Amino acid sequence: MAACSPQVLRKASLIDLAKELRVMHACEKGAIGVYRGHKCVARYFFRAKLEELDCMRFHEREHSEIFARLLREYGFRQCYLAFLWIYGGLFYGVFVGAFGLKAIGRSTATIEDIVDREFDNSLKQIQQWPAVCDIVRAIQIEEREHKASGELFAGDTIEAKSIIVNIARAGAYAAKHLAETL
Ligand SMILES: [Fe+2]
Ligand SMILES: [Fe+2]
Repeated sequence: MAACSPQVLRKASLIDLAKELRVMHACEKGAIGVYRGHKCVARYFFRAKLEELDCMRFHEREHSEIFARLLREYGFRQCYLAFLWIYGGLFYGVFVGAFGLKAIGRSTATIEDIVDREFDNSLKQIQQWPAVCDIVRAIQIEEREHKASGELFAGDTIEAKSIIVNIARAGAYAAKHLAETL
C-alpha cells in the first residue's frame, strides 16, 4: 500500500482540526445558553447560587470566544446557524432549572463530564496541533471545575438522578451531533 504524502496527511489533519474546533465552538455556545437559562431561574428561586452560575456562564463565553478566534485564525468557518445552540441551551437551561437547584447540579455534572470526555477525544484527533491542544487543556480545567460545582449543587439526589441525567445526556449529544452536521 502506497504511503500518504505529507501534504495529504496535513490536509486530513486540517479537516479534523476544523471539525473539532467547530463542534467545540458550537457546544460552548450551547453552554452559554444553558447557564444563562439556569441563571434566569436562579434569580427568582435560589439567589445564593446566582454568582456561581454567572461565573460559569462567563467562562463559557470566554471559551466560545477562544474557539471563534481559533476558527478565524485557521480560516475555518463556524457551524451554520450557530445561534441555534444558544437558544437551544437557553430553553434547556430554563427547563431543567424549573426542577430546582439539585436538578441544575445533576445536569451540570452530567454535561461537564461528557464535555471532559469529548475534550479527551478531540485532543487525540488534533494532537498534530500542540498549540491548540494546550488551549483546549486549559479550558478543560475550567470544565472540570464546573463539574465539581455541579456535583456540590446536586448533593445526593438518587431519585432525580436518572431522569435529569438522561435528559442532560440527550441534550449534550444532540448538540454535538448537530454541530457535526452543520
Ligand atoms: Fe466551556
Ligand atoms: Fe463548562
